[in-house]
Amino acid sequence: MSEFLPFSRPSISQAAIDEVIACLKSGWITTGPRVAQFTEALKEYFYAKERELSHLEAPFVLLLASATAGLHLALLALGLQPGDEIITTPLTFAATLNTIVLAGGKPVLVDIDPKTFNMNIELLEQAISPHTRAILPVHFAGLAVNLDALYEIANRYGLRVIEDAAHAIGSEYKGKRIGSFGDTQVFSFHPNKNMTTGEGGCVVTRDQDMAERIAQLRFHGIDRQAWNRYGKHGSQDYEIVLPGYKFNMTDIQAAIGIHQLKDLASFIARRNELANRYHEALSDWVQWTLPTRPHYDHLHSWHIYTPLINEDITHINRDEFMRAMQEKNIGTGLHYRAVHLYPYYRQVFGFKLGDFPQAEDVCERIVSLPLFPGMTDAEHDRVLDVMYSVFN
Ligand SMILES: Cc1ncc(COP(=O)(O)O)c(C=O)c1O
Repeated sequence: MSEFLPFSRPSISQAAIDEVIACLKSGWITTGPRVAQFTEALKEYFYAKERELSHLEAPFVLLLASATAGLHLALLALGLQPGDEIITTPLTFAATLNTIVLAGGKPVLVDIDPKTFNMNIELLEQAISPHTRAILPVHFAGLAVNLDALYEIANRYGLRVIEDAAHAIGSEYKGKRIGSFGDTQVFSFHPNKNMTTGEGGCVVTRDQDMAERIAQLRFHGIDRQAWNRYGKHGSQDYEIVLPGYKFNMTDIQAAIGIHQLKDLASFIARRNELANRYHEALSDWVQWTLPTRPHYDHLHSWHIYTPLINEDITHINRDEFMRAMQEKNIGTGLHYRAVHLYPYYRQVFGFKLGDFPQAEDVCERIVSLPLFPGMTDAEHDRVLDVMYSVFN
């Protein structure tokens, strides 16, 4: 039988490997010059297109240990008070809700649009209360949320927006990169994301206060970013201005990221090819309902390709499908189970089955098929052949 094909696999260039080795040999492996270099490269990436279009200033970019750390610190930086509400979606990774709670907020959910799998903006306004502080949309699978509509509502109610862009580095909305405009965005560099640093993430914001607060919170509450305190011109002295976390990125991670960012455009192009290939091959399969694209202009990054299984036709459910694929050496992913139905969220916030029917239906039927930049056409054909044999 052929080798196991995972649903995702990172593509690490020789240049990235060489950079990691150079970092290891350099004598500086934690937060240092490569984190500074990667930060500047990201700033340029988020600013390059925008600069041509307007006179906006470059955003602040803060590298961190993960997107979870980024969400946590961005939410903490809002200074939430007891009872403050953050509006998000039930179709997301648990980290989105967990960090709301960890930052002292209450998650309020808005059901999804069953076609795009993003938060249904038409339902957003009715979830806003006097306690709402921020909206936290997720660009699911790398498909940009309808941001004009979302920001129009946020601005009208004076709400902050923290975009969970864990899936969305490389995605665009109306010709603009996610991260190049709006309030605050949080990206993930986990190994199955569009680009990776092993583990890692970043916050991009145009709010200087938010940036300064995150910079303090990510490293013990130290008042300045003196990475080379131990260098020739460094000083060992610092003040602690608040009790902070240890959420910094290391230079070993940044060494990978510097080169992943250079490869990002080609990764996104290949992801689009593979997603289009699935779309063409599966469009006449009655076993699947395929992801739908919205009417507005966007560049999808296809972090994941997620059709819904039509169980009335397949007579096997999603979990049985995933097991059958695994037995035939094809990995698939589950993104996600509905977060509000996890025991903690049921018990503490009183969520229950039936609260968000569209998300609940999608979460029962959704599967992530194998998709990663290094995937060959032959591997793609193999996935289709195996799916065919599972269904027939
Ligand atoms: C929507 C979403 N938000 C947040 C995260 C957290 O990212 P990280 O693993 O970098 O902490 C993930 C990761 O899977 C995610 O999918």
